[in-house]
Amino acid sequence: MKNGSVIITGASDGIGKAMALEFSRKGWSLGLIARRAELLEQVRAECLKSGAPQVFVRAVDVSNEAEFEKALDSLDHDLGGATAFIANAGITGRSSLGPDAWSSAKRVLEVNVLSAIHGLEHMKLKMLSRKRGILAGVSSIAGARGMPTSGAYATSKAALTNHLEGLRVDLKPHGIAVVTIVPGFIRTALTTHNKGKMPFLMEVDDAARVFVSGVIAKRAWSIAPAPFRIIYPLIQMLPRSWFDFLMSRLYRTIRG
Ligand SMILES: NC(=O)c1ccc[n+]([C@@H]2O[C@H](COP(=O)([O-])OP(=O)(O)OC[C@H]3O[C@@H](n4cnc5c(N)ncnc54)[C@H](OP(=O)(O)O)[C@@H]3O)[C@@H](O)[C@H]2O)c1
Repeated sequence: MKNGSVIITGASDGIGKAMALEFSRKGWSLGLIARRAELLEQVRAECLKSGAPQVFVRAVDVSNEAEFEKALDSLDHDLGGATAFIANAGITGRSSLGPDAWSSAKRVLEVNVLSAIHGLEHMKLKMLSRKRGILAGVSSIAGARGMPTSGAYATSKAALTNHLEGLRVDLKPHGIAVVTIVPGFIRTALTTHNKGKMPFLMEVDDAARVFVSGVIAKRAWSIAPAPFRIIYPLIQMLPRSWFDFLMSRLYRTIRG
């Protein structure tokens, strides 16, 4: 599939920006969403230089429902009907033992679950009417099970993974592919707060190459770094006592 078009949320930095550049190198046109307008403009210029025929940007907060829908509608129009949509915008949040526990968990769920599902459902309707398209969501290895120190974050990614899985089955007969993107540890602003050692830490451009080829090939799952293809199901199979023992140690190592 050459010269398609893709709308990506969270495209001002990190994995979203790296995927935008990778799609550009493949000659795709882009619709980019994030809050920081200045960064989006910089990404737009880089994408045009890298080969994207057209790049449109909208500076909106994905949790502002009306603004988000308006941005999706206008980008889809500008692109003449986007080939693909990637719900990538996400935030991290540590489990809190303090008074901000609920507000922090709520914000993580708002952005990572509600806004991601909102984008997917909104674009799903457009793709259903066209009887083609690719929907993708950036979940996480953290969604494999409940993770210590990141309860709401792990919950948010498990929810997104499950939503995508249901959509995949629902939409197959309608000609729409659904791709679950599962990053392990990727070097971005989101992981800089981890002061310890992150297993198999991957550079963002390398990860973006894997994820973009997964989207273009319509793979049901796209996981990187590669060792997590084995680690992910192993984590899910660990007996509870082993899980508690190993994860409490692992997360102490990661957090530093
Ligand atoms: N890095 C990793 O190791 C890793 C691992 C597993 C999963 N992930 C997932 O990968 C995705 C991207 O993460 P990243 O590592 O690239 O993080 P990042 O470098 O912090 O980038 C996050 C992007 O999301 C945007 N964003 C955040 N909140 C937003 C909002 N309310 N509205 C619109 N845009 C918003 C940010 O742009 P603005 O601030 O300009 O809005 C930024 O472009 C996330 O869903 C994350 O959970 C990352």
